[in-house]
Amino acid sequence: MKVAVFGAGYVGLVTGACLADLGHEVVVRDIVEERIDALRGGEVPIHEEGLAQLLERNRERIRFTTEVNAAVEGADVIYVAVGTPPTYSGDADLSAVWTVVDELPEVDRRIVVAMKSTVPVGTGRTVRHRLDDRGLENVGYVSNPEFTAEGTAVHDFMHPDRVVIGAFDPADADVVERLHDGIDAPIIRCDVASAEMIKLAANAALVTRISFINEIANVCEATGADVTTVAQGIGLDHRIGPAFLRAGIGFGGSCFPKDSLALKQLAANSGYSFQLLNAVIEVNELQKRRVIGKLERRLGSLRGKKVALLGLAFKPGTDDMREAPSLVLAGRLLAEGAEVSAWDPVADGRHLDGVDVAGSALEALDGADAAVLVTEWPELRALDWAEAGARMRNRLLVDGRNMLDPVEMRGYGFDYEGIGRAAE
Ligand code: UGA
Repeated sequence: MKVAVFGAGYVGLVTGACLADLGHEVVVRDIVEERIDALRGGEVPIHEEGLAQLLERNRERIRFTTEVNAAVEGADVIYVAVGTPPTYSGDADLSAVWTVVDELPEVDRRIVVAMKSTVPVGTGRTVRHRLDDRGLENVGYVSNPEFTAEGTAVHDFMHPDRVVIGAFDPADADVVERLHDGIDAPIIRCDVASAEMIKLAANAALVTRISFINEIANVCEATGADVTTVAQGIGLDHRIGPAFLRAGIGFGGSCFPKDSLALKQLAANSGYSFQLLNAVIEVNELQKRRVIGKLERRLGSLRGKKVALLGLAFKPGTDDMREAPSLVLAGRLLAEGAEVSAWDPVADGRHLDGVDVAGSALEALDGADAAVLVTEWPELRALDWAEAGARMRNRLLVDGRNMLDPVEMRGYGFDYEGIGRAAE
């Protein structure tokens, strides 16, 4: 089939590359010329495992353009994969979606617009009206949300837990279902509003688990229990399951914070206060700041103290720093008068005002009064921690991801503290 993908960001590029790999002819369209030029030249503007290889392997089947007509010409399906960032009110900003919808040319055959961007429930219905108002009745509309996580997006796309297809017209759903031939996963076919809600509810369920385990961790700290053992103990209950029970310094990224706010706002717009989600969001905000208290308890005032942030990306395997806990930590530390150094194997923190970005983790730790492990990069697990300790002025280590072995770290002379882990 022929597919146009609007938006060459994380979601658009992964969608385009994977659909090309399934044998479809793909054109990816973006408004940013430099990005399209780079992609044409074989450069991949984002760090995403396996994406560069996939684009290279399918070079014959994937093209890049800034032109709407060149993308839409001959297409059977048009994927919308543009950004939907939060507005000041917390609602999703759909301006990029409306631009795509309004730019669609008239076509003399049936084509299907498939929404990949995360949008509020009700967006599909509004798009439908907008298309009808323009006389584009032969443009179908399908909600086909994505459940891919950054860092494993290619794998997640090719091996999903499910594919959700919400449509107004079953024939349009058939087209999008055929597009997924070769992917072995249950297909959920439903109405458009339910598909839109499945996406938001899935992310809401995941963030609820994270804030839940973070609160359990905080209570563990107060009572002497160890959250990693507790998570294992409850995760073996098949009704609970083990995933997303890693306590830490809170969730970040381009999706969870934005989508939880968007669902909260969506509920509020219809007069409903989503109290559980409000708490989940607040717990997460507080969780990012808890590290400051841990440092102050050990070091007293942070003024003039050097704190090394190990990891800047919101999670390992990506260069994405959107809503990363590292940003909140750096901001709070600087506000407390601390000197902040940082290191990340991939994310580029050079734009962070006041943060001294080092060339290596050891360099960041030179003369530090404390180290905070912010992102659980494998490189940090493999760090020479004896050498790390020797470089520091004071061996205080706050493991914000519970990645390191407390006994081993204490063996290196560290005053080690995790999140919700027994003190000794
Ligand atoms: C998330 C979802 O996992 C995807 O299914 C979804 O498609 C995507 O959002 C989206 O809406 O586009 P992503 O943001 O890439 O994917 O990353 P995750 O691996 O889910 O991690 C999100 C954050 O939660 C990270 O900051 C991570 O450190 C944190 N996290 C995750 C925890 O603190 N504890 C956990 O147990 C799991």
